[in-house]
Amino acid sequence: MIRLKTLGLAALLAAATALPAAAQHEHETKTPVRQSWSFAGPFGTFDRGELQRGFHVFREVCSNCHSAKALAFRNLAQPGGPEFSEAQVRALAAEYKVQDGPGDDGKMFERPARPADHFPSNYPNPEAAKAVLGAAPPDMSVLAKARSYSRGFPLFLVDPFIQYQEHGVDYIYSLIALGYTDDKDPNANQYFPGGHIAMAKPLSDGQVEYTDGSPETVEQYTHDVAAYLMWMAEPKLEERKKTGFKVMAFLILFAGLLFFAKKRVWAKAHGQDHA
Ligand code: HEC
Repeated sequence: MIRLKTLGLAALLAAATALPAAAQHEHETKTPVRQSWSFAGPFGTFDRGELQRGFHVFREVCSNCHSAKALAFRNLAQPGGPEFSEAQVRALAAEYKVQDGPGDDGKMFERPARPADHFPSNYPNPEAAKAVLGAAPPDMSVLAKARSYSRGFPLFLVDPFIQYQEHGVDYIYSLIALGYTDDKDPNANQYFPGGHIAMAKPLSDGQVEYTDGSPETVEQYTHDVAAYLMWMAEPKLEERKKTGFKVMAFLILFAGLLFFAKKRVWAKAHGQDHA
């Protein structure tokens, strides 16, 4: 019986250690490099300035190709996000045109966007984007949460305890800021599965103007836009982390109370026995 158990355990361990090696062999995609994020960990919060800059990069650069269908302009003023003012959001929305209608003449018409409207896509559908760009750029609404990867044994056992939830943003950062290293092939990328991506490096130093004095570098742009994409994918992240902490604090307090209640109840029972 004991021998069977140890045999089973040995087989399991062998399988677990063999797995990552096999996975790495299949495609030579690099594992994203961990970055530091203000929203990581149980007390994490977004950096408002970073989210505002990230939106700026998204709007100036990424949204030329990628859509973000779940984003309404008014979300940009809501608590827990970039928190632009209502007036800023109204002015921003008015710069875009959206289709509305049909009007009295039975035809659709265009009008300036309002805060309740969703962020318009540059391409009417993914097929149209693919025809121009060679591949369909994925919608960015939940991209930062949709991209994950295996960190392999033994890290995947550790991740739940260190609350590592930044796989998506680490991937986006690595892909854009670190992945384009081949001078001859603009579509080679070390972090994209398969090593070849239809999107050439979308950012270069000085491309987007920052008004708050932050460095206008690829690294800064990418970090900011990745943080912004994280907020889009999980607009209630700050709320979730606050609630999580309250629940933990309550559970610890409650466990303490139960412990002392138990001690008192049993102390009394003993007392009666002796009387
Ligand atoms: C010129 C058009 C264009 C621009 C601008 C652009 N992208 Fe892309 N992007 C694409 C296309 C096309 C793909 C799909 C690539 C593929 O499937 O090979 C893509 C893919 C991606 C992916 C990979 C998603 C995956 O499937 O894993 C990420 C991440 C990404 N883009 C982020 C960005 C960010 C951030 C910006 C802005 C800084 C940006 N892109 C700007 C066209 C663009």
